[in-house]
Amino acid sequence: MIWLVAFIIVLPFSLVLFFGAPYLPTRQRQALQAIKLLNLKKGELLVDLGCGDGAVLIQAAKLGIRGIGYEINPYIYIIAKIRTWKYRKFVTIKMKNFWDETIPPETKGVFVFLLDKYMERLNLKLTRDLKPKTRLVSYSFEIPNKKIHKTVDAMHLYIY
Ligand SMILES: C[S@@+](CC[C@H](N)C(=O)[O-])C[C@H]1O[C@@H](n2cnc3c(N)ncnc32)[C@H](O)[C@@H]1O
Repeated sequence: MIWLVAFIIVLPFSLVLFFGAPYLPTRQRQALQAIKLLNLKKGELLVDLGCGDGAVLIQAAKLGIRGIGYEINPYIYIIAKIRTWKYRKFVTIKMKNFWDETIPPETKGVFVFLLDKYMERLNLKLTRDLKPKTRLVSYSFEIPNKKIHKTVDAMHLYIY
């Protein structure tokens, strides 16, 4: 019985490796750095593809920036829902595979903390979905063959 429970708990964390990066939250200082680089105004929309526990969206909401987060792991999704409840006027968390979703056209900034192996595919998706001049911040991982606008604290800023 205990093995079954352990299996059920571990399964979503293992399966996520087929779709994107595993759960690892961005610290508050880096989240604030990312938001600064994204240069969003109050009321503008930030999308976090693989939002984890909502760490970045919460910091953004505190500045009046609206956010949508996609999270595939049901346990992390529930944690994100609970953590962002206080900011629910600003933050929406969706339990979805972001690869299957079209990024809303009014999006002004995107944040990702994925893995090297997904960056090329991500670039194709963003090139298709984003309006020109939308800003992307990628934590740690670079997009192959795309010019980095600026890097601060391992946060890479790109402009589409
Ligand atoms: C490295 S964590 C980053 C979390 C958050 N963005 C942050 O910086 O604090 C990556 C998150 O993306 C989620 N994830 C990975 N692939 C996904 C996918 N295809 N769709 C939605 N969420 C995904 C994982 O479950 C994990 O919580």
